[in-house]
Amino acid sequence: MTIKQPKWLDNAVFYEIYPQSFCDTNADGIGDFAGIISKLDYIKELGCTAIWMNPCFDSPFGDAGYDVRDYYKAAPRYGTNEDLKKLFMEVHARDMHILLDLVPGHTSVEHKWFKESMKAEKNTYTDRYVWTDSIWEEPKGMNCIRGISDRDGSCAVNFFSNQPALNYGFYKPELPWQQSMDDEGPKATLEELKNIMRFWLKMGCDGFRVDMAGSLVKLDEDGKGTIKLWQNVREFLNKEFPDAAMVSEWGEPDKSLMGGFHMDFLLHFGPSHYNDLFRCENPYFSKSGKGTAKEFLARYKENYNKTDGRGLICIPSGNHDMDRLARTLDVEEMKVAFAFLLSMPGAPFIYYGDEIGMRYVENITSVEGGYNRTGARSPMQWDDSVNAGFSSASAEKLYIPQDPDPNRPNAKAQCADPVSLRSEVKRLIALRMTNPALQSCAKIEFIAEDYPLVYKRTCEAQTITVIINPGEKAVDVEDISGKVIYTVGGKATAEGCKCHVEGCSAVFIEM
Ligand code: GLC
Ligand code: CA
Repeated sequence: MTIKQPKWLDNAVFYEIYPQSFCDTNADGIGDFAGIISKLDYIKELGCTAIWMNPCFDSPFGDAGYDVRDYYKAAPRYGTNEDLKKLFMEVHARDMHILLDLVPGHTSVEHKWFKESMKAEKNTYTDRYVWTDSIWEEPKGMNCIRGISDRDGSCAVNFFSNQPALNYGFYKPELPWQQSMDDEGPKATLEELKNIMRFWLKMGCDGFRVDMAGSLVKLDEDGKGTIKLWQNVREFLNKEFPDAAMVSEWGEPDKSLMGGFHMDFLLHFGPSHYNDLFRCENPYFSKSGKGTAKEFLARYKENYNKTDGRGLICIPSGNHDMDRLARTLDVEEMKVAFAFLLSMPGAPFIYYGDEIGMRYVENITSVEGGYNRTGARSPMQWDDSVNAGFSSASAEKLYIPQDPDPNRPNAKAQCADPVSLRSEVKRLIALRMTNPALQSCAKIEFIAEDYPLVYKRTCEAQTITVIINPGEKAVDVEDISGKVIYTVGGKATAEGCKCHVEGCSAVFIEM
């Protein structure tokens, strides 16, 4: 299967925008499209070339918009479809690209398809979701909704109990109510998914980040059915939208790429050991020097070897589902962490506010199905004015409270300060952009995996060795020669074949 890849993906650095928390222009305490447009220059100035925006469709917001009520309509609180189209245009006017968040696995219970599918009489939507054929039978291995429909059956849910699972069929149906991928219901669901994609691609979006992409076909342990489904989508894209970019939330890049995605996210849950680096008691990137990156690297290399030359693995700085980096790392530690994130293969993703070290807001009540995730979703801190410049509403009206610390970091101050985290992140992005060996497709070879972590990035034009030393202790690295082109943290000196790297530092050496 051929996978066409848009040129701009070759060297993209993404910025994730959580629309409700980015910038509010009509003082209702919730971010909106106009707010995002007003901050595009900020994102561009940071050096990011592309945006992933979390779900922005009509929704009762029981799971922050991952519970879609109408796939064809922008959530009115953000603006109209026309406003969203304008956002696409403004992004393109700045030579950037934007991915929407596609939620193919489930809808909100308020979606009209679900309401129809709950009816006792057969209709167009009867088979749109995964239903058993008796209220007393639960779908094995899945949670379900039962007792609220006239229809005699239980409906499988994919995530929260307000998110009924759309029906793409079972890989190997075992029970009478389990449909196969080739049955009419599942086929109609897939066609509708393509219609949704077609609708937004025609309007000007550049592709999709796909939510829970690996979960669509049920009883599909090896992912074979789901891979086949995405290959079908890829054929449609090749034909109609060959430039559309596709990123999956799957966590198994070999499967995702086989399904026709360009890139797969490295997930913070499951077997990745991602949190060993950033978010645990002694993360690898803390100065204590007690952490380890070994298990992370073992998994990473396994996946990298399976996918080398075929697509990308994306390592995010964070996202709307995990704690802020700043909950476990201080500013100097975060700088070294970004030196790593921005010099790895694949496309880096920076979660809004991570570039200024926004903190996890402790002890706040769950908002929009966020639960413990709510603290990482607080409104962006732009400056030191009212509500940190996020909104001119009264502070109580903000839909999530902000970091109460009077010294909370803000973008404006950090832009003006050359030693701030944001300035460091900006320089590291620029370094990546001007050195091909640091970019998405250049090869990686790991040379040392403890303190320090040493890896060599190579492309035709260039070789750069990156030494990452998060621990407090200075280290000497032997058998390295070349020119130091950039350092983060303490000074680094390269003499002869030896490089001396201070604690909590990173150094880039061109060979
Ligand atoms: C993904 C999203 C998460 C959401 C879930 C269900 O993991 O990132 O925020 O709650 O899917 O759609
Ligand atoms: Ca608003």
